[in-house]
Amino acid sequence: MDDLIGQPLDRIDGRVKVTGRAVYAYEHDVPNAAYAVMVVSSIANGRIASMDTRAAEQAQGVLLVITHQNSLKVPGAQNQSKTSPPGHAVQALQDDVVYYANQPIGVVVAETFADAIAGAQLVQVTYAPQPPQMDLESRLADAYAPDKAGGGGDPAASHRGDVQAGMAEAKKSIDYVYRTPFEVHNPMEPHATIAVWNAPDRLTIYDATQGVFSDRGRVASVFGLPPENVRVISPYLGGGFGSKGPVWSHVILAAMAAKQAKRPVKLAVTRPQMFGMLGCRSETRQAIAMGAKSDGAITALRDDTVSHTSMFGEFVEAASLPARMLYQSPNNSTSQRLVRSNIGQPSYMRAPGEASGTYGLEAAMDEMAYALKMDPVEFRLKNYAETDPEENKPWSSKSLRECYLQGAKHFGWSKRPLEPRSMQDGNALIGWGMATSVYPTRRSVSNASARLNVDGTFSVDAGTQDLGTGTYTIMTQVAAEAFGVDAKQVRFRLGDTILPQTPVSGGSQTAASTGSAVHLASQALREKLIQMAIRDARSPLSGLGAQDVILNKGRLYARSNPARGETFRELILRSGQPHVEAKAEAKPGAEKDHYSMYAFGAQFAEARVDADLGQIKVSRMVGCFGAGRILNAKTARSQFLGGMIWGISMALYEYAAVDKRLGRWVNNNLAEYHVPVNADIGKIEAIWVDEKDDHVNPIGAKGIGEIGITGAAAAIANAVFHATGKRVRDLPITLDKVML
Ligand code: MOS
Repeated sequence: MDDLIGQPLDRIDGRVKVTGRAVYAYEHDVPNAAYAVMVVSSIANGRIASMDTRAAEQAQGVLLVITHQNSLKVPGAQNQSKTSPPGHAVQALQDDVVYYANQPIGVVVAETFADAIAGAQLVQVTYAPQPPQMDLESRLADAYAPDKAGGGGDPAASHRGDVQAGMAEAKKSIDYVYRTPFEVHNPMEPHATIAVWNAPDRLTIYDATQGVFSDRGRVASVFGLPPENVRVISPYLGGGFGSKGPVWSHVILAAMAAKQAKRPVKLAVTRPQMFGMLGCRSETRQAIAMGAKSDGAITALRDDTVSHTSMFGEFVEAASLPARMLYQSPNNSTSQRLVRSNIGQPSYMRAPGEASGTYGLEAAMDEMAYALKMDPVEFRLKNYAETDPEENKPWSSKSLRECYLQGAKHFGWSKRPLEPRSMQDGNALIGWGMATSVYPTRRSVSNASARLNVDGTFSVDAGTQDLGTGTYTIMTQVAAEAFGVDAKQVRFRLGDTILPQTPVSGGSQTAASTGSAVHLASQALREKLIQMAIRDARSPLSGLGAQDVILNKGRLYARSNPARGETFRELILRSGQPHVEAKAEAKPGAEKDHYSMYAFGAQFAEARVDADLGQIKVSRMVGCFGAGRILNAKTARSQFLGGMIWGISMALYEYAAVDKRLGRWVNNNLAEYHVPVNADIGKIEAIWVDEKDDHVNPIGAKGIGEIGITGAAAAIANAVFHATGKRVRDLPITLDKVML
C-alpha cells in the first residue's frame, strides 16, 4: 500500500473512545479491589508534629490508614534516577518532612471510594511549620548553576564569540526581562493507578502513564523487585503532556497500600491534588539582551534564565536552549540557574524549555525588529541559521524559510503595516504578530514485533503508549505500508510491558522511535515471508529472486505474472507454524554526530483587543511547520492545533497562582485555573511543508507532539503589542496588564 502513510486515517481508537468502551487506568475491573485516597499536607514547609488516625480508622468501610508512622519502608523512593524521564524522588510516607503543599502525607484505604474520601477527612494533622520559600525574584542571589539543562542533557550554559564586543558593535540593542508563570498540567484524565500483588514479589499495575517500561523499572527498584516481576498496563490515556512521564508518589503509594491492605487497591488523584505533587512548568525569569547592526544582522545575544526546582530534586526549565541555535548570532551566551523552592518537583510539561524559551526569545526578536524598524519576518530571515551555529553541524533538514514564507502568505502578512496601533475595527484594536517555532528531533531505542497469523491477520506489537495523540493509528499506517496490507488488516497492540520494549512517550519521540521499530519489524516480516516462498519447492514462487516477488492484499505473487502466486494462508499452513513472526530493534545511530536535528515552524496570530476594556481575543492564527514526514494528516493537524491552542492559553489565560506567604496553590481547580474553551478560539489553521529527511530515522518523521506550542505565545504577545503599542513582558497577558 503505497502512500498509506500521510493519509488522514480516522483514529483506530476513535470508536471505542466515543462509545465508552475504551478502558482507562482507573476503570479496569479488578476483583476485590479496595479504594485508596491520599491525605495531603496543608503546609508547604516544615514537619508533621502529629497525626491522629483513630477517628478515620473507626469510620465506616475504612480498612487501613497509612502514615509515616506505619508505612512500609521503601528506601528507593528517595533515589533520583539519572535516566529520562527522571524517577524523581517521591514522597512515600517515609518520614515527617513536608517539602511542599499538597504533598502526600497519608493514605486511607476503604471498601468504597466514598468511604475512603470520608475517612481521609477525619485524619487529624498538626504541623511544625516553617515559612515557605516561594519567590524567585527576591532570591536570585541564591540561584545556582546545575550540571545540565533539559531532557537532552545539554550543558547548563553556552558561550561562543564575545558578547561584550558584539554588543559594542551593535547600532541598536535591547535588554529586557521576560517572565512566564507556574503552570500545572491538567489532562482530562487525572492520574490514577491500580496495584495488584499477584504474589508477595509479583505486581501488576494499571496506570495512567506515558511510559509503561520506565514505570515498571522505577516501581521495581523502589520495591526491590526484578523488573520482570512487575507488569504495567496502560492501553488508553486521557492526555499526559509530560505529567505522566515520571513516576510520581501516588504510584508507589498505590502499590504500598495494596501490599499493606493485602487487597488490590485503586487510587485516583483528585483534581485539586493535581496541583503540586505531579510536576509543573516552573516559573521562569529570562533576561535577554540583543544587539544588531542597522542592516538587521544580530551582533550579540545573551539569555540568562532562572527557574525553580524543588527542595529535594532537580529539574531545569531550559528556556535558554532556543537562544543557542535558532539564529546566526556570532557572539552568544546563555545560562540556566535554579532556585530551590517549597514546591513539588517541577518537571516536563509540553515542550519543556522550548515553550517558555521561545516566548522570551521571540518576543525579544520582535522588540529588536521594532528597534530596527524592520519587518519581523525579514529580520528573522536576515539572521537565518543555515547550519547549527552552536554545534557547527549541518541540519538534517530545515524548512524554516519555507515556513516563514508559506505561513506569511497564508496569513496575508504582506498587508501588515509596521506601526503598532495602526489597524482598528470599531472598538477593537487589531494587531498581527509572528514568531518562530522549534523543537528538537529525538529518538530512543525501541522494539516491535510483527506477526502474520494463519487466519491472514497481521498483528503488530510494541509496548508503547497512546496519550490520545494517535499512536494506535500512525503505527497501524506505518505497519500496513511497510508490510503491504490494508490498514484494516492490522491489529496493533500497545500499552503493556509484556509487549516489546519501547521508550517513554515524551520528547515527541514515539513516532520516530517506535514508528521506526514498527517499520523495520513489518519489513522484516515481509522479507521473511518472501524468503519462505522462494525457498520452498512447493510454492509457486519457488526459485524467484526476492525482488521479483510482490506482497500485496494478502497474497505473494510474481512481479512478472500476478497470477503466479499464493495467499498468506497457504504459505503459513504449509509451514506448519501457527504464525510467522519477525522482530526488530530500531536505535539511534551516528546521525546525531553528523547532523543537528530539529523541527521548525512559523506562527502568525491576529489579536483583537478591546480599546476600552483590554479584553483580548486571538481571532486568527496560522502555524506552518516543517516536521519531516507527516504520518497522518488528521492526527498531525490535531497535534499542531492542540499545541497552538495551548500557546493561546499560555499567552492569555493560564497560570497557577501561589500564595507566597503560605506556599499554597490558590486556583487548584478548573474553574479558576483558566484554559481556553471553544469560544476563546477563533479561526486557527495548521499547515506544513512537505519535508523529506533521510537522516533522522528510517521513517523520516520528526515528531509533532510539542512543536505546536513553541512560538505560539510569542506570536500572540507580539500581536498584542502590534494592536496596542503596549509591550507586556510577563505571561499571561491579562486585560489588567494591557490597560494599566
Ligand atoms: Mo512531553 S512534556 O516530553 O511528554
